[in-house]
Amino acid sequence: MCGIVGYIGEQQAAPVLLDGLAKLEYRGYDSAGMAVCDNGEIRMVKATGRLKVLEALTKGGSTLPGTAGIGHTRWATHGSPTDTNAHPHFNGSASIAVVHNGIIENYQKLKRKLESRGYHFVSETDTEVIAHLLDRYYTGSPLEAITKVMHRMEGSYALGIIFQDHPDEIYAVRKDSPLIVGKSSAGNLIASDVPAILKYTRSVYFMENEEIAKLTRDDITFYNIDEEELEKEPTEISWDLSAAEKGGYDYFMMKEIYEQPKAITDTISPRIRDGKIVIEELGMTDEEIAQISKIYIVACGSAYHAGVTGKYVLEGMARIPVEVDLASEFRYRNPILDEQTLVIVISQSGETADSLAALREAKAKGSRILGIVNVVGSSIAREADNVFYTWAGPEISVATTKAYSTQLAALYLLAMKFSNVRGTITNEELTSMIEQLQQLPRQIEFLLGSHDRIQKFANRFLAADHIFFIGRGLDYAISLEGSLKLKEISYIHSEAYAAGELKHGTISLIEDGTPVVAVLTQEELYRKTISNIQEVRTRGAFVMTVTNANHTDVEKNADFVMYLPETNSYFTNSLAVIPLQLFAYYVALGRGLDVDKPRNLAKSVTVE
Ligand code: M6R
Repeated sequence: MCGIVGYIGEQQAAPVLLDGLAKLEYRGYDSAGMAVCDNGEIRMVKATGRLKVLEALTKGGSTLPGTAGIGHTRWATHGSPTDTNAHPHFNGSASIAVVHNGIIENYQKLKRKLESRGYHFVSETDTEVIAHLLDRYYTGSPLEAITKVMHRMEGSYALGIIFQDHPDEIYAVRKDSPLIVGKSSAGNLIASDVPAILKYTRSVYFMENEEIAKLTRDDITFYNIDEEELEKEPTEISWDLSAAEKGGYDYFMMKEIYEQPKAITDTISPRIRDGKIVIEELGMTDEEIAQISKIYIVACGSAYHAGVTGKYVLEGMARIPVEVDLASEFRYRNPILDEQTLVIVISQSGETADSLAALREAKAKGSRILGIVNVVGSSIAREADNVFYTWAGPEISVATTKAYSTQLAALYLLAMKFSNVRGTITNEELTSMIEQLQQLPRQIEFLLGSHDRIQKFANRFLAADHIFFIGRGLDYAISLEGSLKLKEISYIHSEAYAAGELKHGTISLIEDGTPVVAVLTQEELYRKTISNIQEVRTRGAFVMTVTNANHTDVEKNADFVMYLPETNSYFTNSLAVIPLQLFAYYVALGRGLDVDKPRNLAKSVTVE
């Protein structure tokens, strides 16, 4: 996790670094720091807590003069969030400063070796090893020292480095953690993610694994680990800064909830042409699609929940067996894969460590990998055989909303494409599904109009200790997501259960007043779930239901009802998720929590 930035140019570096770090705070926010080169000396400030503490401490950066520097916002992995463990980290003579995102897996071994040579460590971090190792190998050439250190480190790292002896240079290094370099008329920059530098430039170089960049005020040179110069082409970023700003909303999460109609439209429109599903980036012939014997969907968190929906939709529609696995499990369970297996890796960030490792495991076994990814140029996008980009735009809030919704849309499109090729749906059915898919954005807008009602209802649960979500089939898949959304931002314990499973243990947790959210959108399962609702109500549960508009009879069995507009039964989760997202948001808001930055979490989980 963690966010890094670097700047070298004509302007004062510290305000630029603070500005960039503010855009990266979603990556970690337990401490922050900066190091700036000034008059042949590196000066550093770091502070525990949110970025505003560092801002206040440096008076907006003004107390840290100098035009070349590096900055960091941390999500602690090694060592608790303290000033000492905050980045940057230094060598003993404070002549080399390092900021790091990633994990150095062999740091203990390296640390022991360095200590035996007399190096003294002050922090508990793995990063400090890098600073001392650089010191050990530095004999005047930063590039030489960096490559030697790269040869010795195992794990993942995106680094920003400054050397006191080279005050007109900053260095960037990347392996398995994201890092970009931007060239602008105001100077050159490095960052973990595009929004951090978008104010200065749209011209961005995506660094590849084991690449090094040397930035001066007016030049950028790239090298490989053998110190050979590399030619790299910049990418023009098409979206602008407003996409990464709150735009009048109190929290990014609410803005992103409201951006869902557009995100879904942007994801589906380019793939619907003349009444057909066209997914060129799939890179598969109809024959290859017909030969798929099995699909694995691998992902983490909400992306995994999108995968659970994908399983029901792909199996139901295209009649292909689908297994959904948590990436952290898949990567270690020696899965049975072959060339006829399609592995779909879903990830908003494209940098999730477990998902990336699962991708590599599947690739090594010869399967074709399709990435469903939001961040262009991310590791999963680059390593997958083919990439289906979800065009959700930048998602800043730690709790995913619009990226999740576009993942659902991507899975529907894939299922429709596969079904059409394999002949499991007719052309007429496809035409009708396309129409229903295209209506989803408008229907979501309609549902967003109920936010006041949901807020009033949510306010009744601010003191709840536990909230349960139940559903069957696709309704179970969306219950998983509703429950995660609620618990991650409200800190209320919540669990999702397949409604039919309640009787096998969980129902003993239901007592007078226990809130239960029941989702019933699948017609053939409606009566079954109603029975489960009756069972929990009999035991005192307070029930909110999310169901189709034709089921007004549900009111007999519920304390609060959210009706969904009519859609294809495979697409209901795209609608059901809206009240669940709003419910989670308003409960967290009502509890006075920082909705966008829940405790202990970070947006991009680049460590195992
Ligand atoms: O970037 P990814 O989609 O790979 O991230 C996966 C999960 O970490 C992510 O969905 C997480 O569960 C979110 N906080 C959920 O809102």
